[in-house]
Amino acid sequence: MADFLTETRAGYDALVTEYVQLFPDVTEPEAVALAAFAEAVPPGRVLEAGSGTGRVTGWLHARGLDISGVELSPGMLAVARATCPDITFTEGDLRSLGHDDASLAGLVAWYSLIHIPADLHPGVFAEFHRVLRPGGLLLTGFQVGDVTARVRDIDFHRLDPDRIAALLKEAGFEPVAQEVREPVGTESTRQGWVMAQR
Ligand SMILES: C[S@@+](CC[C@H](N)C(=O)[O-])C[C@H]1O[C@@H](n2cnc3c(N)ncnc32)[C@H](O)[C@@H]1O
Repeated sequence: MADFLTETRAGYDALVTEYVQLFPDVTEPEAVALAAFAEAVPPGRVLEAGSGTGRVTGWLHARGLDISGVELSPGMLAVARATCPDITFTEGDLRSLGHDDASLAGLVAWYSLIHIPADLHPGVFAEFHRVLRPGGLLLTGFQVGDVTARVRDIDFHRLDPDRIAALLKEAGFEPVAQEVREPVGTESTRQGWVMAQR
């Protein structure tokens, strides 16, 4: 396993209790983007790539989406399975999703792409494009910026929404919406998201 994956996995395994306390629910600003996705995604199967404790997967499931999750950290996965028993969560790497070509209607990468080194983003977007069917919808959320914060031995790469949109376009997506907002609560940076159609 690549060093960054080993570190991210071990980091989240160690962080899981704190993560549940810090992020028990979807916040109001997050809900704006997630609701827009839930409304626009076509019928069919949806995957959250990097589903963590399942708080976002569960939120979208409660809004009627046929959603499952894939997650790197066994510790985070255990919480998701315990708190969302009706949802299937699989251990895996978002760079290789293990789903058939064009089999998904929607894909959510909510604060998970931030753990993938920038030079690997084109490969990740090619994988997202492969598993989404034509017309399928992708939503990705992240901290905005151009630095990497190292917290508890985990790299958090802040991202530029315009760069993400441009890379998605190169991968064959059509960016349909994006937003940057000021930090709220305990957030220390601006936050952004990009939605794109396959
Ligand atoms: C900041 S958390 C976000 C979790 C969830 N999406 C949420 O919003 O609560 C990032 C998650 O992505 C997972 N992750 C990081 N790299 C991954 C990878 N290559 N494949 C799958 N999951 C990954 C981490 O283990 C962690 O659970």
